[in-house]
Amino acid sequence: MRSSRYSAALAVPLVLALTACSGAGSPGAAGVRDPYFPRMGNGGYDTTHYSLTLGYERDRLTGVADITARATQNLSAFNLDLKGMTVDGVTVGGRRARVERAGQELTIRPDASLRKGATFRTVVRYSGRPEKITDPDGSEEGWLPTEDGVLALGEPTGSMTWFPGNHHPSDKATYDIHVTVPEGLEAVSNGELAGKRTTGGRTTFDWHTAQPMASYVAMVAIGKFDTKAYNTPDGLPVYTAVDAEEAGASASILARIPEVIAWETKTFGRYPFSSTGAVIDRDGDSGYALETQNRPVFPGTPELPTLVHELAHEWYGDSVTPKSWRDMWLNEGFATYGEWLWEEQHDGDSAQESFDHYYAKGGDDPIWAFPPGKPSGAAHISDPPVYQRGAMVLHKIRETIGDARFFALLKSWPAAHRYGNADTADFTAYVEKHNPGKDLRPVWDDWLYGNGKPDHP
Ligand code: TRP
Ligand code: ZN
Repeated sequence: MRSSRYSAALAVPLVLALTACSGAGSPGAAGVRDPYFPRMGNGGYDTTHYSLTLGYERDRLTGVADITARATQNLSAFNLDLKGMTVDGVTVGGRRARVERAGQELTIRPDASLRKGATFRTVVRYSGRPEKITDPDGSEEGWLPTEDGVLALGEPTGSMTWFPGNHHPSDKATYDIHVTVPEGLEAVSNGELAGKRTTGGRTTFDWHTAQPMASYVAMVAIGKFDTKAYNTPDGLPVYTAVDAEEAGASASILARIPEVIAWETKTFGRYPFSSTGAVIDRDGDSGYALETQNRPVFPGTPELPTLVHELAHEWYGDSVTPKSWRDMWLNEGFATYGEWLWEEQHDGDSAQESFDHYYAKGGDDPIWAFPPGKPSGAAHISDPPVYQRGAMVLHKIRETIGDARFFALLKSWPAAHRYGNADTADFTAYVEKHNPGKDLRPVWDDWLYGNGKPDHP
């Protein structure tokens, strides 16, 4: 039935990826079975690069997503996640593809099946007014209008409001994000600014992300910003963009980015990315900081511990990324312990004192509501058991293996999984393998997976 299409495809080199599966292949899965967000992500392919061309005009977005991916099975169809927006057309390998939509699932049926192992390009043209998403825990993400523009954020699911993709942390890719805005506005994103030009009253910013990125830490901030670009003494490019009204208040804290990065590099190992920085945007809705890759976003001028926390995520979260949303404590426990260590090494409380402070909380305190390794539901992945009790797990590991091995672990773990993904079982196996003869069982049983407040500190 499809043979005539196969031969048509064979005649055109551009679409070689579309050729000749024996049989038609089967559809890729509509989700990757995440325990908390089961519809997020899609099976049957791995993305390697996104090129997003975004046009912004007041509340409207016009987008072209050019997605390079590799088929991991013979595919007759595959899905992307996209919530809202109008899809104006899709091609695969340069040929028009059929499209169906159901909720956040965009199902694409190429002209001919894709062969396992083939690399293929999907181009989605879309437009409309992007939505914001209210998360199970009540916080807002996605496309968030601000006084002078918009802030696009994506943890855990919001990126599907502003571009179609394989929106699960387990599928990381490099990105080019081109944003065109009315002249006079700035557009800031991840990676490095590779180009900027103005024609006919519109300015285009080209942002290039050369290291793999999970889509939940992709970001675009559009508005009136004071921007600064400079290098740290070690030669790392820093780019900051600050809401004009926060520029004065934030100058002294942002000036500490090189110092924080230097301390974190000493403590966590080589900085994983080719630039750093920060965005401060006084948006109406988020109210939280987020570890967007290269440059975290803050809803106002941050305190120093928050700056330390978000930049620590460049190692723990952005470079080593959780395999699923169940593994959130690998992000937040480490970033919180990073704050404790900063304090300890800068004349503040010792990490032991921080631990003791939290251990003193009564048995019915929310910090003991569930074990860090197994959050009780999607609404709770950013609750205290993930953050502070997650940090307590790390402190117990430190106590069990000693400072020398613990500080080596802080560096070797992100190095071992640089630019990749890991889950909690990978972590516990890693710690055990590198610490033979140490009894870590009680740490896992009582602190990482145990219900309720552990009997002993
Ligand atoms: N990851 C952010 C931080 O630590 C907090 C956060 C923002 C978050 N949005 C979230 C955590 C959604 C879980 C889910 O700094
Ligand atoms: Zn965090």
